[in-house]
Order: sequence, then structure tokens, then C-alpha cells
Amino acid sequence: MKYPIVKPFLPSIDAYKAQIDGIFERCWLTNNGQCLQEFERQLADYLGVNNLLLVANGTLALQIAFAALNIKGKALTTPFTFAATASALKFACIEPEFIDIDPDTYNIDIEQATSKQLSEASALVGVHVFGNPCEVEAIDRKAKEYDLKVIYDAAHAFASDINGKTVLEHGDVATLSLHATKLFHSVEGGAIIFKHKADYLKAKQLINFGFNSDFYPELVGINAKMSEMHAAMGLCLLEHLPYITQKRRTLVAHYQECLSLPFEQGLLSFQKWHAEGNNNGAYMPVVLKNEQQLLQVQAKLLEQGIQTRRYFYPSLSTVPAYGMQGSTPHGNELSLRILCLPMFTDLTLDGVEQICSSLISAIQTSC
Ligand SMILES: Cc1ncc(COP(=O)(O)O)c(C=O)c1O
Repeated sequence: MKYPIVKPFLPSIDAYKAQIDGIFERCWLTNNGQCLQEFERQLADYLGVNNLLLVANGTLALQIAFAALNIKGKALTTPFTFAATASALKFACIEPEFIDIDPDTYNIDIEQATSKQLSEASALVGVHVFGNPCEVEAIDRKAKEYDLKVIYDAAHAFASDINGKTVLEHGDVATLSLHATKLFHSVEGGAIIFKHKADYLKAKQLINFGFNSDFYPELVGINAKMSEMHAAMGLCLLEHLPYITQKRRTLVAHYQECLSLPFEQGLLSFQKWHAEGNNNGAYMPVVLKNEQQLLQVQAKLLEQGIQTRRYFYPSLSTVPAYGMQGSTPHGNELSLRILCLPMFTDLTLDGVEQICSSLISAIQTSC
């Protein structure tokens, strides 16, 4: 594939090997080892947050967050997200009630939740879709009014900000995915950022079988620990973050510039970013005229070695396994028309130009 949809960014093999040598010398592979502790500390510093807990992946991060906050019953969430958001809720026996999105920002539009939906729910699970911060103040107001816990699935929101401050400090808890496909990764991995220390301490127990400091299983827990090998990868990549974020922002700006003509002609549209935030360059979505055109464009691009992906399709409110509660016409329509273009740190500006010119001709020759 000439242009894959994603390509993980890797440190030098020597840098990773130096970490692995240390792990071999200590012969300590998991269970709160040195790499894990160092990665947790450095990551919290980098993000400027407290109460950060590393876990094995972003899906477990959500499940642990729900358990730590003792969420039960119903939770309001968005239909326009990756399966893991709704799946983690159902897995924890919490019923997702889907609230429609804002068709411009692609994020949950809390103003569309009825007072019945708000009063029946115990939590709201917002997703900063493609890294675009949710309307956190509007969500806070509703959460206070209806006594809801707020969990942000921030899987895409590494390096996303509002007024220069990380989005991860919003909500009772925010979760990150550190999967290899993400802007910043530890091969597999996740992180949870808690507002309250007590929730963090409970989660620390939950990820280790519920053991207390006497190794007594005080809580019903699970194994959600990150291994030393995974933490070592995260540690190696931390120093590259300034380059990664800067490069991705440049790539997004270049994509938007190369696609400005079809955008002005109304042939495609872009996600509207939060007015007080900077695009973190995690994804490059474009919205086309309809699903038929999308399928034709996707096939034509693939013929030229350009891989695209239908993030997020299908709309989760149409999936029987997730209960199909709530009416979400905007989310359903967006799911049919949105296509993510290749986005990875090693992509070149030349590559962006080639992808854009192939996309434009594919749109022009589609019906
Ligand atoms: C919005 C969202 N939530 C959760 C996850 C799950 O993360 P992980 O793959 O690390 O389990 C993903 C993964 O892509 C995601 O996109």
C-alpha cells in the first residue's frame, strides 16, 4: 500500500533496545515495574494532569472508569464513535442511550437530550471525536443540573486543548487509548485521568484484581495492568511528541489547503473544530455527498494504493447489540458520508498533495 490509513510512529530500535536491556537486567516484566512507574510519571508531567493511571488498553480504561465511578443503569452517549465506547458500557451492564450529534463538530449535542433522558441517566459519556473537544461547559451545566457523572472517552484527544489547556482535565474522568494506530502510543495501552484522588485510588485497586495493599481482594477487580514492554515503548516515544504533534498539525493544514477548492465548491466538507482549540492532527476526515459517492471514491483511491477508512460506520444507535435507544438522524447520516484519509506522522507534504489530487479526481468522476 502506497499510502496506508495509519502507520505507527516508532522510536529508533537502539532506544527501545536500551529500555528492553534494562527490563532484562531487572527481570521484572509487569506488575508496576520501573518502566511503568517512569512512564506514568513522565506522561502525567507532559500532559500536566494529576491522578493518571496507565492500563492495558483504551477499552479497559473505559470499563475501569465506569467501575471506579460506580456507574449503573443508563448512560447518555454519542452514536458517532468507535464501537468500544458503546461496547464498554454494555459490557459493564450499563444501557447506552444515544443522543444525537452536532452535524458540524461531530460531537454529542447535549442540548438535544430531553429532560426525561437526562433525568433517567446516571452518567454522560462524551467522546472528543477525532480529537475535537466537546462543548465541555454545556455538558458541565447539564451534568450539575441532573446530577450526572461525566466520563470523556478521549481516545483521540491526546494533545487536544481548549484555550491552551489539555481537554483531559474535563469531566470526572477522561480516558485515552495508546493503541499503535493513535497519535501517541505504547503498542497497546490506555490511560485514565481522574478528577478525584479517591476514584484514582479505587481504580488502582480495580486494575489489579481488586487487591488492597495486603493483597486481599477487597473489590471485584480485573487485570488491566500495562506491561513493562509496553511502558518502554511509551517512554521511548515521549521525547518525540513535540515533533509528532507539530508534524501532524502541518499535515492537517496542508490537507485543508490542498482541498480548499473542492471545499469552496461544496464538493466536500470538514469537521468544524472547537473555537478555542487547535486541531491535534489525529485524523483527517472528509464528508462527501452521499454513501454511493463515498464507496466509489474509496474504491478509486484504493486502486491507486491510497487506503481510506469509514470512521465511524455504522452509527452505533443502529446496532442491535447496543440496544438502539435514542433517535440520532444527524449521527446516522454522517456515518454514511464520512471518510478518513491517510494520516500518520511520516506522511510527507508531497504525499498529501498526491492523495488530494487523487481524491479530487475521484470525486469529479463519481456520480
Ligand atoms: C473513541 C474510541 N474509544 C475507545 C477506543 C478503544 O481503544 P483501544 O483500542 O486502546 O482499546 C478507541 C480505539 O480506537 C476509540 O477510537
